[in-house]
Amino acid sequence: MNENTLSNIKNNKADKHFLIYTWGCQMNEEDSEKLSGMLQTIGYNKTEDKEKADIIIFNTCCVRENAELKVYGNLGMLKGLKEKNPELVIAVCGCMMQQDGMGQAILKRYPFVDIIFGTHNAHKFPEYLNRVKQEGRSILEIWDKEEGIVEGIPIDRKSDMKAFVTIMYGCNNFCTYCIVPYVRGRERSRDVKDILEEIKSLVSKGYKEITLLGQNVNSYGKDLNPKISFAKLLKEVNGIEGVERIRFMTSHPKDLTDEVIDVIASCNKICNHIHLPVQSGSSRILKKMNRHYDREYYLNLVKKIKTKIPNVALTTDIIVGFPGETEEDFNDTLTLVKEVEYDSCFTFIYSKRKGTPADEMLDQIDDKIKHERFNRLIDTVNCICAKKNKEYVGKNVEVLVEGISKNDESKVSGRTTTGKLVNFIGDEYLIGHLVNVKITKSQSFSLTGKQI
Ligand code: 5AD
Ligand code: SF4
Repeated sequence: MNENTLSNIKNNKADKHFLIYTWGCQMNEEDSEKLSGMLQTIGYNKTEDKEKADIIIFNTCCVRENAELKVYGNLGMLKGLKEKNPELVIAVCGCMMQQDGMGQAILKRYPFVDIIFGTHNAHKFPEYLNRVKQEGRSILEIWDKEEGIVEGIPIDRKSDMKAFVTIMYGCNNFCTYCIVPYVRGRERSRDVKDILEEIKSLVSKGYKEITLLGQNVNSYGKDLNPKISFAKLLKEVNGIEGVERIRFMTSHPKDLTDEVIDVIASCNKICNHIHLPVQSGSSRILKKMNRHYDREYYLNLVKKIKTKIPNVALTTDIIVGFPGETEEDFNDTLTLVKEVEYDSCFTFIYSKRKGTPADEMLDQIDDKIKHERFNRLIDTVNCICAKKNKEYVGKNVEVLVEGISKNDESKVSGRTTTGKLVNFIGDEYLIGHLVNVKITKSQSFSLTGKQI
């Protein structure tokens, strides 16, 4: 996409505003930042006030049922707004729209929606906006297949210090519970050149921390010609002058190579943190989930990482109540959490997703049991995370200061290389700088310290 494509659409939108609501993962956040970038390029302004908005976009998620329920609830509330302001343009996009028949169902249930599009054609939104005004009727356009990668979309980033840079789109893994491969398509890697140029341009604008994003970053470059490994890309990014910190997510345990572990250990800008979703501690359930590793492999991988990268932080995703999960399987998850000692865990209750193999499995778990196990898992996770935080007391850490502390204006807050949130007394001018801090106190989800 180049500036001309959008400037053809640009006309006088003085004092016209848009508001985007985003559900779901970093990928969706980034898509919303692109929608915002395109709308600002064609002359619209951002607003937080829905009464003032001329365009409202819902960027939806469908990874779990509760994400969808939130969208339905919020869409219902827009009816009144549209009645008050018939000129208001309402658009719905994102992963939820990529499901079979969903776009039509939304239009039937919420006929006041003006534009519906999917994850593969979000770059077309400014065109749809123009068309809806000319044609005066709803537009429903969803592409079922990805069509390469569109580069050059303007992007309005939320932070001016930390940037997410997508290195690949889609997923080829088809874990049996997951809808992502169906709504985000197959893996497509961006060209190394495009990624490095984007990062250099971010650095020139003052960005300090870059997070490389993909559903499975360890598969990066397998589809490129010539092929390039994720480890090589990491090294290239580490070599860019001005980048202070590099993070990446997500890593599928089956694809995390020794080469990547060695690069993390040897490159000073790559943070000491790996997000390594385990999903379950039971080999039997991992097989049913189609994860391509077992408990033993995962624990060996963790051992290797801890040996090669001292003080590494490990975080994970865990699902409880996957079909067929017995008390014994669930116990395997609890013991694995205790053995790995994660720094933090994202815990989820299994949610049936139409079209995925797990949805058809006959041995679904009762809701009451799922919730009861979920609560037990949270107790274990919180205990371990608090213990990990306590280990920091008395230690010196380097903090990238991100802003004024949320709960105390005399303090600033930032993160360690391991991703721990640290608050300490300090002035605004520290924002954007790496500061040495001695940790004096630990809470369940953050640390307190003193500048040294
Ligand atoms: N139910 C519950 N959790 C899910 N996840 C993905 N699909 C489902 C589902 N159907 C979780 C996984 C994944 C994270 C992003 O969301 O743990 O790693
Ligand atoms: Fe979903 Fe598995 Fe792909 Fe992750 S790796 S996006 S859990 S299918």
